Amino acid sequence: KDIRHMKNITQMLRLYFTIAVDKAYPGLADFPVTVTPTNNPKFGDYQCNVAPPLFAMLKGKNVGVANPRQIAEAIIREFPKSVDVIEKLEIAGPGFINVFLNVEYLIEETKTVFLHGALPAPNPCKKRVIVDMSSPNVAKEMHVGHLRSTIIGESIARLMEYSGHDVLRLNHVGDWGTQFGMLICLLQDKFKDYLKDAKQLPVSDLQTFYKEAKKLFDEDEDFKKRSYACVVQLQSLNPEYIKAWNLICDVSRKEFSKIYARLDIKNLVERGESFYQKRMESLVKELEAKGLLEDDIPEGGGALQGIRKIMHPPDKSLPLIMVKSDGGFTYDTSDMATAKNRIEEEKAEWIIYVVDAGQGTHFQSVYKCAKRAGIWDPNRVRVDHVGFGVVLGEDKKKFKTRSGDTVKLADLLDEGIKRAGDKLREKGRDKEMTAEEFEAAMTSVAYSCIKYADLSHNRNHEYVFSFDKMLEDKGNTAVYLLYAYTRIKSIARKAGVSLEQLVEYATKSKISLSNPKEHKLMKTILKFPEIIEKCGTELVLHPICELLYDIAVYFSEFYDSCYCIEKDSKTGETKIHMDRLVLCEATANVLKQGFEILAIRPLHRM
Ligand code: ARG
Repeated sequence: KDIRHMKNITQMLRLYFTIAVDKAYPGLADFPVTVTPTNNPKFGDYQCNVAPPLFAMLKGKNVGVANPRQIAEAIIREFPKSVDVIEKLEIAGPGFINVFLNVEYLIEETKTVFLHGALPAPNPCKKRVIVDMSSPNVAKEMHVGHLRSTIIGESIARLMEYSGHDVLRLNHVGDWGTQFGMLICLLQDKFKDYLKDAKQLPVSDLQTFYKEAKKLFDEDEDFKKRSYACVVQLQSLNPEYIKAWNLICDVSRKEFSKIYARLDIKNLVERGESFYQKRMESLVKELEAKGLLEDDIPEGGGALQGIRKIMHPPDKSLPLIMVKSDGGFTYDTSDMATAKNRIEEEKAEWIIYVVDAGQGTHFQSVYKCAKRAGIWDPNRVRVDHVGFGVVLGEDKKKFKTRSGDTVKLADLLDEGIKRAGDKLREKGRDKEMTAEEFEAAMTSVAYSCIKYADLSHNRNHEYVFSFDKMLEDKGNTAVYLLYAYTRIKSIARKAGVSLEQLVEYATKSKISLSNPKEHKLMKTILKFPEIIEKCGTELVLHPICELLYDIAVYFSEFYDSCYCIEKDSKTGETKIHMDRLVLCEATANVLKQGFEILAIRPLHRM
């Protein structure tokens, strides 16, 4: 079957212009050609600004050009003639080339999007991509920072999958380290007998348990000593301690998985810090043998505190602490072993760390040390730290509960559902739906809003968490987009035209759309591939949200001025504009594909 794929118009034009440049000025195929969408229809739909810089380069080279406009003329002369995407090319100002798209082409592509969905072209440079995401810590709160990592990570992973890559989502859970010493110690004190054949821990609230252990650890010398002994036992993999540790992790795991289920996070493989224990041991030996570790005395600590081992990046920036003075490993050690595992065992070609921006310097040191140790070759493996800013409350201070505690994620999601429910009830939606439909609408609205509010902001900025804002039904919010989608999907239904009928019509008939609002909408939905490409290279998601919002806005402009179903006031007969229904459904397909990447579930009714 001939499944045509959505074409990236910018990329296509860039290619045509490159060919034209090379023909007009042979040997210049490498000259960087940029094509950008224009904001003003007066200047066409896209613009190519290659002539002025080309002139600057050719000036004085005796090729007989007097000004950039002449270059633009020569390029237009050599522009491939058979290209169906273009209506005309025009020169503006000092030699800018304005590109006007051909309406027939737009209609053809829109038809394809309706018939085959907003599918990408096959990716010839498919890569094995690892997305390090979510990564909460056992026994500590899974807080809004981890929510951001989960939401952004999932969308980055989906974006990569959509772009044709082979994606592995890894959850780098903080499930190892000294805090387990005191947790196990307290377990032994409180539930010694119980632990012998327990399948489940008699603790439901790990946070409280953690606080209790921490208090003892800080105040009770004996408890502290025993806690350290527990860490040693645990790290030497004593089965009894491993069992206690497992029971603790299970409690957290259950909590985490509930959150993941609610947020529609699938295929997230748990591979916590503990997974790397053996690998950390051998890595440290290897680095030691290569002479890459140095002895170091912790700052402020005398020799009594013992000597630890550190590794310096070649540029002497922040060193990694590889072995603590008590012989234990650290977060740094685990990230070095993790990098080695991912590159050498998992054969990763691209590693994306979705972790808060505060850890930027940590990752810089990890990359540099991994390179120094011969683990990472930047020419073979791309690494990115996809950082993100902190979540603020409406008071612009760090997001906290009224009493000043960190906000529990489960509570946050519950509140979202409650608020979404209130909002829908305000509009009387509960009266128009069955109880099940209402429940579905409420949860979808809540989760979509929370995700969308995060994703629609530039991830590098901090963002203010506000249920009121995210639940608004005007402006760039999930509610607005979900409504737009449901409305679009209802148009053909109300016209009594089934999807099958529409497919048959689109396959057989010549479609004509001549209203400028229709053209604007088509041009916007056909920008999807280039926005996807931009997001995939820059690893950002807000441009997708902006595009979906534009599509929804231009759709409503189109819908307000072009009838899809028209009633003749005299005869009372209804006329159905099938061509416009095709445009409606193509629009819906693009929105749906966008939602899919943002992990938002559209609704049939809302
Ligand atoms: N558990 C860490 C935290 O809560 C995040 C881990 C991120 N991933 C990594 N490979 N270091 O801050």
